[in-house]
Amino acid sequence: MGSPGDVPRWKPSASSTRKENDHDPETESLASEEEAHVISDKMEPNFPFSTGLGSLNAGLNKGYQSSPNNLPPHTEAIKTPPLDSQIGRSLDVELNHSKQPLIQDDSVMSLDNYLGEVGYRGNGIFLTWRDLSVTVPGSKGGRRSILEGVNGYVEPGEVLAVMGPSGCGKSTLLDALAGRLGSKTKQTGEILINGRKQTLAFGTSAYVTQDDTLMTTLTVQEAVYYSAQLQLPDSMSRAQKKQRAEATIREMGLQDAINTRIGGWSSKGLSGGQKRRVSICIEILTRPKLLFLDEPTSGLDSAASYHVMNRIIKLAQQDRRTVIASIHQPSSEVFELFHNLCLLSSGRLVYFGSTSATNEFFSLNGFPCPTMRNPSDHYLRTINKDFDNDVEQGLGQSMTTVQVIDVLVKSYKSSEYLQHVSKTMYEICQQKGETLEKGGSQAGFITQSLVLTKRSFVNMYRDLGYYWLRLAIYIALCLCVGTIFYNIGSSFGSIQARGSMLMFVASFLTFVAIGGFPSFVEDMKIFTRERLNGHYGVGAFVVGNTLSSIPYLFLISVLPGAMAYYLVGLQKTLDHFLCFALVLFACMLLVESLMMIVASVVPDFLMGIITGAGIQGVLMLNGGFFRLPNDLPEPFWRYPMYYISFHKYAYQGFYKNEFEGLIFPNNEVRQPATITGEEILRNTWQVGMGYSKWVDLAILLGMVVLYRFMFLGIVKFIEKVKPILRSADAAPSKQSAA
Ligand SMILES: Nc1ncnc2c1ncn2[C@@H]1O[C@H](COP(=O)(O)OP(=O)(O)OP(=O)(O)O)[C@@H](O)[C@H]1O
Ligand SMILES: [Mg+2]
Repeated sequence: MGSPGDVPRWKPSASSTRKENDHDPETESLASEEEAHVISDKMEPNFPFSTGLGSLNAGLNKGYQSSPNNLPPHTEAIKTPPLDSQIGRSLDVELNHSKQPLIQDDSVMSLDNYLGEVGYRGNGIFLTWRDLSVTVPGSKGGRRSILEGVNGYVEPGEVLAVMGPSGCGKSTLLDALAGRLGSKTKQTGEILINGRKQTLAFGTSAYVTQDDTLMTTLTVQEAVYYSAQLQLPDSMSRAQKKQRAEATIREMGLQDAINTRIGGWSSKGLSGGQKRRVSICIEILTRPKLLFLDEPTSGLDSAASYHVMNRIIKLAQQDRRTVIASIHQPSSEVFELFHNLCLLSSGRLVYFGSTSATNEFFSLNGFPCPTMRNPSDHYLRTINKDFDNDVEQGLGQSMTTVQVIDVLVKSYKSSEYLQHVSKTMYEICQQKGETLEKGGSQAGFITQSLVLTKRSFVNMYRDLGYYWLRLAIYIALCLCVGTIFYNIGSSFGSIQARGSMLMFVASFLTFVAIGGFPSFVEDMKIFTRERLNGHYGVGAFVVGNTLSSIPYLFLISVLPGAMAYYLVGLQKTLDHFLCFALVLFACMLLVESLMMIVASVVPDFLMGIITGAGIQGVLMLNGGFFRLPNDLPEPFWRYPMYYISFHKYAYQGFYKNEFEGLIFPNNEVRQPATITGEEILRNTWQVGMGYSKWVDLAILLGMVVLYRFMFLGIVKFIEKVKPILRSADAAPSKQSAA
């Protein structure tokens, strides 16, 4: 890190977060605004970076600031190896520039003692990981290593930066720490929260993932405000929640884009960097105790990166939150903001320690950061082996990047940096802090259900592909049906035509619901992200998703349904049409529910559409039209499949509704001159006549409820089973490792 004197560069006004009494006018103005509105006793006064532990922070800051003049003893020790003048100069520059101890040793110990007296270490989340390794299935049945024996820790009030070349395992490390690794990955090693083996339950941590999963149809304000309504407790009024949402939006510098739609692949909205900030906004609304940020600054310019990270670091310091952020290429100003650095290369730990001591570590190993170069750029260039360049060593030799990484990894393993890390980890583990509480206070089930219903309704309204396109297609299809079967009449031939027309409406019209599958998958992605971060429960999501779709499905059943019904000239009375529309509506609800079940199990566009189409194809096939019920092979197709298929009840409801009460001329030889609708139902369509069409409708509606409960059950089951499978997977690999 070059000194400010050597390297002329832009210096933001609030350059260091570690200054005592660091006043930020923007934050302060927000704080006073918030104070005026938030009276809840749970709320710290100045949102979003309240100073509940202000005096402690002052102490903490004091501790950091006093340190440069009190270098810990082992810092002196590592200065001793003979180095050339360039390294020495670089080291001096680093030491002069440093605002915190190179390695937080004695000074921090005494600070800890001070803090210990006031119970400082007792609250917040301390996260430690030891010998953490992650493997994924490799080629030829082997396993590929993604992380290899990584150690580290992060303490409340601190922000750890995870850096390394692309593909080095940063996201994997964050996923492992947050307990979110995929089912095929295997993890060994020990991750402790407050010195205990605990799992991060839903809502105990917030994770801003590398990809932004946002509802594209909402504006920034809506997205953040709905999220505030979902996450913040019912004890806060709506105005307070709105206030909180707006303050957070301003904090992330999004005030100019507040009414811009987020946008997605079909419609351009926010820029990539703005979307990133919306994702961060949503996760910091509740001030989570533990925050994972996967590349929070990607897509941001250096000034925006600085301000965003500065806010996050204040959040960590002032509220004693624990933050781990992976980061690509931070500017030197942003780099300085972090407390500790975890530098990875190809899954191996190159360095873990204070950010300000990193240059010293590189210098001592012969790779000092040249003046005028951003230190983080230098570290990444030194350890990026993807392009296999030779690295010029400070001592005049040239080495391949692979050799350089080996040198650094070995050097780190035998250094005092590692000893210090181990010592700190040991102390944290001895402390045995509080056990994690689930969640925190949130909005109640009813509020969440209402907010989710409203949000989903707005999304469906604005997303043309969700229902509006389907409405247009249904109108077109029903016009086709209406004109092909126009004025069907009551001849003998119309019996077969009626049956075919009703079968088409019940099966193929509802089959088109598959077109909405991509929208269901998007909904599921957003749900999964929000659920993992504990924003709301599964029940509230199912209620919201069901209720919001009802008006649209009703519209697309009644409007195109009426066009087909009256053009064809089916039974004229209103109650006949009502029954027709309701059976169609129930079928729409059923197919929708079925597709949501598929989306929860197969969350992939293509595979989901194929699976959904396959299931519907089978159900349709044995619904009793293509093969008459009495002809269905008994062991499987008749019992139970015929009774499971919702098409059976749809066909029978439609048939009874249409044929009962009608009389047709009979063209068959040696038969009476006329044939009644009841006879057609019994003999031609082989319909069960023991119950009325309304019972068929009731069974269909019952199936809708059943399908929705199945959806709820499957989502809950997946949630419960995934961690069990992962720990069962990890157990044998642990044994084999031992
Ligand atoms: N489930 C998986 N199956 C196979 N390979 C995986 C899996 N997860 C991660 N990897 C591999 O592990 C390596 C590390 O991936 P990871 O996403 O952690 O990298 P990263 O450091 O976050 O990269 P970036 O900076 O580009 O986001 C990559 O080579 C990736 O291909
Ligand atoms: Mg990544």
